[in-house]
Order: sequence, then structure tokens, then C-alpha cells
Amino acid sequence: MFMDVSKIKIIPDNLNNIYLLYDENDNIINIPESVAIILDGNGRYAKKNNLPRELGHKAGCEALEVILEEAVRIGVKFLTVYAFSTENWKRSESEINSLFNLFFLYLGKIEEKAMKNNVKVSFIGDIYKFPKKLYEECERLIKITKDNNRCVFSIAFNYGSRDEIIRTIKKLQTEHFDFSQITEKDISDNLDTKNIKDPDLLIRTSGEFRLSNFLLWQIAYSEIYITDVLWPEFTKEEFYKAIISYNSRDRRFGGRKEK
Ligand code: FPP
Repeated sequence: MFMDVSKIKIIPDNLNNIYLLYDENDNIINIPESVAIILDGNGRYAKKNNLPRELGHKAGCEALEVILEEAVRIGVKFLTVYAFSTENWKRSESEINSLFNLFFLYLGKIEEKAMKNNVKVSFIGDIYKFPKKLYEECERLIKITKDNNRCVFSIAFNYGSRDEIIRTIKKLQTEHFDFSQITEKDISDNLDTKNIKDPDLLIRTSGEFRLSNFLLWQIAYSEIYITDVLWPEFTKEEFYKAIISYNSRDRRFGGRKEK
């Protein structure tokens, strides 16, 4: 389905407190319930605009605020974003510190948006390797938004899929789990993402065709959308393009469609 996003009609559905999207032929556009995003390209955006890298990351935060609100508005139930990976520790100390300062400041903005839009904030990854001031802010946000129920917004902080799987196995082992009987559900129910629906749609910005150790277990059947757009330039319209592409996919989960 190729369509001009400017032709999308956005109509309020007051009963369900969301906005419905229709294409130019008045067909409803399906909204993926669970969306995950690899936010890539902040550095390239900074370079392109002759800015220091920190300002690229700041622009990335601003883009995220817009997409979070839009996702909630159109009825996405789970939004999960990759903000800091277990591999990001390889960056320079000064970039890591400036990211931590930015995250700390920016979590205040997230709190504001979460409370305004009834969003529950959660974190995946081992946040306890972060500075205390930062993980305490994460804990505060979890607590303050815990009763919100319109959308779950999960931030991957010090997250890596392989690390998550290893932590999960170790956790089960300390609980004397009987591994001879293990099922897929046992693993899913013990990953950091236990309260998040597996992504229907995975978006990666900035054109790289890789998964970078993000949600490897969870994306087994996700539809993948890769765009060349740099994350700070990812607008609502770019988000709609990803959703339109998702609508054109034939999801069979390994089975066959009835003729
Ligand atoms: C990748 O860009 C992006 C990051 C490492 C950080 C992403 C974080 C944010 C946008 C902020 C999210 C904040 C919160 C609190 C949720 P890059 O530096 O790898 O870009 P490049 O590949 O172009 O150099």
C-alpha cells in the first residue's frame, strides 16, 4: 500500500478516547498494538547540522516526545524505545556522561507527558549499572505512573537482548527452576519485557539493516520497517508511513492464509 500520508484522515473516536486513521478510500488503517523503535541517527543529525553530538541527542529526545504523544493518541498500547544499549558503554566517557545528564533532565519531560496522557512508564535493561541519581529517577517515574493504563511506554536503558537472556536464566536458576520442563512462556514471562506485548512493528531509523541486540526473542514475528530518516527528523508523518507499511504486510506467523 503506497499512499500519500497527507491524504490520511484523522477522526476522533470520543467513545474510546483515541483518533482513528483512515486512508484516502476511507478504509480504516490498523494501528499496531505494540511498537518498538531503534532510535538511531542522533550523531549523524548533529554532524549534518554542524552541532555538537549532545545537541543531536537532545533533538532525539524532542522527537521522541512527539512520537510518544502521537502513539498514545492513535491507540498504540505499548511503545518500547532503545535509548541506551549494553554496547553504548564503549562510547567516550564524555558522551556517556552527557547522555546521562540528558536522560536525567529528560525523564522530567517524560513524567509530564506520561501524567498528561495516562501513560505508564517502565524500563527494560539493568538500570542499576547507571548512576544512582539516574536509576532513582527511573524508580520514581515507575512509581508515580504505575496506575496509568492507556499505554505502557518502556525505555530500554542499559539494555541488550543477550544480557537480558543471561539475567533471566540466572534468575530462574536461583529459583531452582526445572529446566528440563522449560517452555517458551516460561522464558517470555521472566524477561524484562514480561509486561509488554511482543512488538507488532519494529521501526529502525537511519537506514542500518541490523537489530543491534534489541529484543531478539520478542521480535520473532514482528514486522520490520527501516527508514533512512534520522531519528531527530522522524515526525508524525514518518510514523504514519511506518504504520501504512505495516498495514500492507501479510502476517501469517509461519502459517498459511486460507484461500
Ligand atoms: C543513537 O544515535 C541514539 C542514542 C545512543 C541515544 C538515543 C536516545 C535518545 C533519543 C533519547 C531517549 C531518551 C530517553 C530518556 C528515553 P547515535 O548517536 O548512534 O547516532 P549515529 O549513529 O548517527 O552516530
